[in-house]
Amino acid sequence: MAKKTINDFAKMIENGEKITYLTAYDYLTAKMVEKAGIDMILVGDSLGMVCLGYDTTFPVTMDDMVRHCQAVRRGAPNTFIVGDMPYMSYQKSDEDAVANAGRLVKEALVDAIKLEGGGEAIASRIRAIQQAGILVMGHIGLTPQLMGQIGGYKAQGRSASAAMKIVNEAKAVEQAGAFSILIEGVPAVVGKAITERAGIPILGIGGGSYTHGQLLIYADMVGMYDNFTPKFVKKYANVGEVLTAAFKQYREDVVKGEFPDDAEHTYKMSEEATKEFLLALEK
Ligand code: KIV
Repeated sequence: MAKKTINDFAKMIENGEKITYLTAYDYLTAKMVEKAGIDMILVGDSLGMVCLGYDTTFPVTMDDMVRHCQAVRRGAPNTFIVGDMPYMSYQKSDEDAVANAGRLVKEALVDAIKLEGGGEAIASRIRAIQQAGILVMGHIGLTPQLMGQIGGYKAQGRSASAAMKIVNEAKAVEQAGAFSILIEGVPAVVGKAITERAGIPILGIGGGSYTHGQLLIYADMVGMYDNFTPKFVKKYANVGEVLTAAFKQYREDVVKGEFPDDAEHTYKMSEEATKEFLLALEK
């Protein structure tokens, strides 16, 4: 299947088709996500928690993002890939933001970048990156890089004034030139209001069913990341349990001497070569 472009996403919205979006952080997973026909992959800075074992996304670096985006691109050559901008890769200045967004495109061949927030400074970053010819996805609502300011990892926009603030941020992000916006962790009515007012694709993770598409963190939806599971996650598999059971079984087999079975799991040597080898050992 050919890689989708922003024109395909616009057509999908016109036809009332939902856009499917999943995270991936490595070659193997990206391959499976592409095979499943998912439209868009996010290499999220959530890789800091899911793959690198940090408690937050703050320690993730540009080098981490480039390395993981490269692996995902190799696994999913025909999928639209969004590379996440990690903490402090765009907050300082427009110049920094353009240079780091450029690294993700140039070194990892992502199709777009994503950054968090909806204030004036972020609008300026979006404008600058967009003017450098790079597609920008905004990210508003529950924004983990602003955890301290939004009062922790919890739903946003639950009062009328907080909801209006997010609706206004969506407008500002779109006006700044974002090609799409991801809204995270807001009531469905807020997701609906933003989607109805937008002229660009609105994707949701915990933003209700009305958005043009849905994102989930793959490790949550297949039951691999069990440190905590947000309310908006639906579990489609228990891969974590399946893998742990396989690892336990392997351990038991090795301990009991049941693996490897030399008749099945080792390389053959001809009788003649074996004889010659055993003789040589005796010399
Ligand atoms: O890093 C990520 O995976 C994200 C999602 C949580 C939206 O930004």
